[in-house]
Amino acid sequence: MALPVPVLPEGVDPAWLPPAAFRPLGGRRTLIRGSGPLVETVHGEVAEACARFGGEVVRAFGPGESPYDLVLELTGPEELGDEGFTCVRRQGRTTVAAHGQAGLLYGLFHVVRLGEKAFSHDRPKQAHRPALGLRMLDHWDNVAVHPVMGQVERGYAGGSLFWADGLARGELERVRAYGRLLAACGINAVAVNNVNVHETEAHLLTDRIGEVARIAGALRPYGIRTHLSVTFAAPMVLGALPSADPLDASVRAWWAEATARVYEEIEDFGGYVVKADSEGQPGPFAYGRSHADGANLLAAALAPHGGTVHWRCFVYDHRQDWRDRTTDRARAAYDHFTPLDGEFADNAVLQVKHGPLDFQVREPVSPLIGAMPRTRLAVEVQATQEYTGQQRHVCWLGRMWSEVLRFRPDGDTEVGALARGGLVAVSNAGDDPFWTGHPLAQANLYTFGRLAWQPDADPYRFLSEWIELTFTPEAAGGAGEGARLRASLGEVLTGSWQTYEKYTAPLGVGFMVQPGHHYGPSVDGYEYSPWGTYHFADRDGVGVDRSVATGTGYAGQYAKPWAEVYESPGTCPDELLLFFHHVPYDHVLHSGKTVIQHLYDTHFEGVEEVERAREVWASLEDLVGPARHARGAERYEEQLRGAREWRDQINSYFFRKSGVPDARGRRIY
Ligand code: GCU
Repeated sequence: MALPVPVLPEGVDPAWLPPAAFRPLGGRRTLIRGSGPLVETVHGEVAEACARFGGEVVRAFGPGESPYDLVLELTGPEELGDEGFTCVRRQGRTTVAAHGQAGLLYGLFHVVRLGEKAFSHDRPKQAHRPALGLRMLDHWDNVAVHPVMGQVERGYAGGSLFWADGLARGELERVRAYGRLLAACGINAVAVNNVNVHETEAHLLTDRIGEVARIAGALRPYGIRTHLSVTFAAPMVLGALPSADPLDASVRAWWAEATARVYEEIEDFGGYVVKADSEGQPGPFAYGRSHADGANLLAAALAPHGGTVHWRCFVYDHRQDWRDRTTDRARAAYDHFTPLDGEFADNAVLQVKHGPLDFQVREPVSPLIGAMPRTRLAVEVQATQEYTGQQRHVCWLGRMWSEVLRFRPDGDTEVGALARGGLVAVSNAGDDPFWTGHPLAQANLYTFGRLAWQPDADPYRFLSEWIELTFTPEAAGGAGEGARLRASLGEVLTGSWQTYEKYTAPLGVGFMVQPGHHYGPSVDGYEYSPWGTYHFADRDGVGVDRSVATGTGYAGQYAKPWAEVYESPGTCPDELLLFFHHVPYDHVLHSGKTVIQHLYDTHFEGVEEVERAREVWASLEDLVGPARHARGAERYEEQLRGAREWRDQINSYFFRKSGVPDARGRRIY
């Protein structure tokens, strides 16, 4: 039986699946051939389009040859895997063939993305399959509202989509709608709770697994597997054992039993996500054991059921003494994990943040990626904009992620190919009517999914797709206005990451944010803190010397050519200069400008670019819908205020430190 399309609660934005996006399926005859639960999802989608826009959908369980405009069939070759499909148009008929049911669903969304073009002319047969098998969102959602972090840690889009009033939501229609949006951009896994596992959330693993099972049930029809963040101390917290030592037989037995019970409730459970020995979370170090011992403990419990443990590599000393110049937080993940290469079980995936620090607006690619050839790594990016404007500022991160994915750590293989364990994003979605706080932040979620499917693709293509799907011409009131709308949105989003970078921390130096919540500027906010994030500005210069010759040696963690490129200020790319080197203010960049003048110029430019973007948004008032427009307009006011604050604090700070005036005589305080 066709699965009905989820009904959005009143006032919730349809995001990139507005009904109008399905108009091209209307008025056509569609044949669906095959059976299984996800085929019913596909049927529901087509039936909904026909109900709205006319047309007919027919099911067949054997061959059938009547004239159809669209055929969706479960007959594709095995090489396509469970998620791949082919698409061809010939003699007036568009055919999508998949081997697995998920492939058929992805094929349908492919047709939706093509729109009229799927039916207008012949297309040669093309095979599509995801480059990465795991395309996952990690929700940093808490069940209970945390006194400091709120419900969603680093969440800027309201409360949790999954949890409310201390329980899994009773009504999961919106979770179904969320799963549908995720499937439409290719995401196939979701971890439903925060990596910092607090007391209440620890119980999701055992006595509260039924709640997780209900959420899993809502996501399953869209091909999404559910994962859970667990605490390494679970045997003690939940099982009353005296220890959580990974080599202790009773601990191993406890995990095996707990995991078997999880699979009794959730047959297709994806596995565990673990933040261990990181920022105060418990881990194997307490027992003198390694991270491989810890990860393998959970991997062994999951293996009989086909699950995976995602073991995070965000392990560093967060109680460092700022006076100590020998400890470099950027080195930590590589130093901890590379000696363990080859020791991890096959179903253990090391989940590595894309940069060595913490999701700054600009970081080099983590040297750990590519340095563990015998280990499955997943790369983690942050869709939630913790350090990139918290969804009050527009900052489309597709370009940044694409640069990471296309980076070649050894000068040869791209990160997107090395990430055999998958691509993971910290989710930016919540129960906000626009899903993501700023309506334009939806573009990050969409682009993430598409890049996880095809990491070497041009990210701007996915940005255009998001715009085209979300803002259909009819929504904009006609074709001409639609073109203006799409051009304007492209303009405000395309360069927004570079704009954000211009008015915040310069040249890769990072942080300079207000401690704790991380919003807004505070140049010295973390300078004398234990967190290991310093810029070392003095009257002569700024930046962190991470060279091998005179610094922390971090640059030496890279393979060639990068170890050499980063080692010297002469070859280091401008945008990373202060990440790798401490240089005088009059150091001349490859661009020909001095560091100090670059800093002034970019900060003035960044604010001008925000002013311009705000005007463009204002000009779209009639075209994007009143609620969306009002939300965006209010956020643009805040972005402009924030950008000016950043500009003035950064410029004044460095003017006062250096005494060097702006060559163009602009106002600095
Ligand atoms: C950042 C963030 C934390 C989060 C941590 C992590 O440090 O500020 O809120 O818990 O990353 O990735 O584990």
